[in-house]
Amino acid sequence: MIDPIYSPEKGRYDNMKYRRCGKSGILLPEISLGLWHNFGDVNPFANSKAMAHYAFDQGITHFDLANNYGPSYGSAEETFGMIMKKSFMPYRDELFISSKAGHDMWSGPYGEWGSRKYLMSSLDQSLKRMNLDYVDIFYSHRYDPSTPLEETLQALVDIVRQGKALYVGISKYPEQAAAFAYNYLQERDVHCLLYQGRYNLLNREPENEGILRQAKANGTGFIAFSPLAQGLLTSRYLKGIPEDSRMAQGLFLKKETLTGGLLDQLRALNNLAAERGQTLAEMSLAWVLKDDMVTSVIIGASSVNQLADNLKAIENTTFTAEEIQRIEQILNG
Ligand SMILES: NC(=O)c1ccc[n+]([C@@H]2O[C@H](COP(=O)([O-])OP(=O)(O)OC[C@H]3O[C@@H](n4cnc5c(N)ncnc54)[C@H](OP(=O)(O)O)[C@@H]3O)[C@@H](O)[C@H]2O)c1
Repeated sequence: MIDPIYSPEKGRYDNMKYRRCGKSGILLPEISLGLWHNFGDVNPFANSKAMAHYAFDQGITHFDLANNYGPSYGSAEETFGMIMKKSFMPYRDELFISSKAGHDMWSGPYGEWGSRKYLMSSLDQSLKRMNLDYVDIFYSHRYDPSTPLEETLQALVDIVRQGKALYVGISKYPEQAAAFAYNYLQERDVHCLLYQGRYNLLNREPENEGILRQAKANGTGFIAFSPLAQGLLTSRYLKGIPEDSRMAQGLFLKKETLTGGLLDQLRALNNLAAERGQTLAEMSLAWVLKDDMVTSVIIGASSVNQLADNLKAIENTTFTAEEIQRIEQILNG
């Protein structure tokens, strides 16, 4: 069957809000879409495509990928590559697309971590899978304590010089390594555009470890991944573990996480969200976005309905001091 030709919503930029990414020329949507889950070759292509289309129709211009997203490894990039070819090619310049290398990707000594060999060859593979000539941003996906940081960072610099990425970023780097990276890149006239870190109501590391402040001081944007704690901070698990949920798969979100204590907290948060006229998912995203040191949240979704729910978060990202206090009481007892 021939696919109907995709034509994006004319009003796609009417409702989305965009934030400047650190000190740079780039604006990113407050909500970005990540393809870690639900875009692999194990997932129905029609659903993945429907989510990508819906996202762009709503002004989500930023799609976040990495070499090993799937499963299988590489297949989320292949899925995105098919969507690029079938739908998004005429809109390439309206899109901000990322990829990363750092985690386990292929067998042998050159298929993970931070060597120049791995980063360079991985990006070449990613571009082919995604049907792209360049990515908008390429990340070192994790800090590699065994490779000289200069080697990893120089590979990022050279990738920009080769025109294979317009910008670079780092993900999950400890503070000291991030400081080194910011300076190394800046001295070579390659600004580090984004720091990508896990940040949500249940995980405050970027706040507590000074990562948010450090990024701001460097003029680097901060983009939060897993802002819904992989689905915990939604209504998904309030009444048990649905069969089609990430927790039921048990790979990245374990059933043991959902203790009675955590459930009590989630239910209390859910009540507070209802008082604000939001779902728990909406309030959880709004909470991350209340901070102007955050440029965007990268959400995951398994359906268009979830995406639609999450997009409503941007309508109200302000919290009263009393609401903040209640949230802290719920989480800290
Ligand atoms: N840099 C890194 O190391 C790193 C690490 C992890 C992620 N990331 C990036 O961040 C992106 C997002 O990560 P994530 O998928 O963990 O994000 P998340 O937004 O915290 O969790 C997404 C999951 O929450 C559930 N969900 C979402 N909206 C919902 C709603 N409205 N109601 C009920 N359930 C809802 C869905 O679970 P079900 O599938 O169960 O429906 C969905 O798959 C990734 O795709 C990736 O791009 C980066």
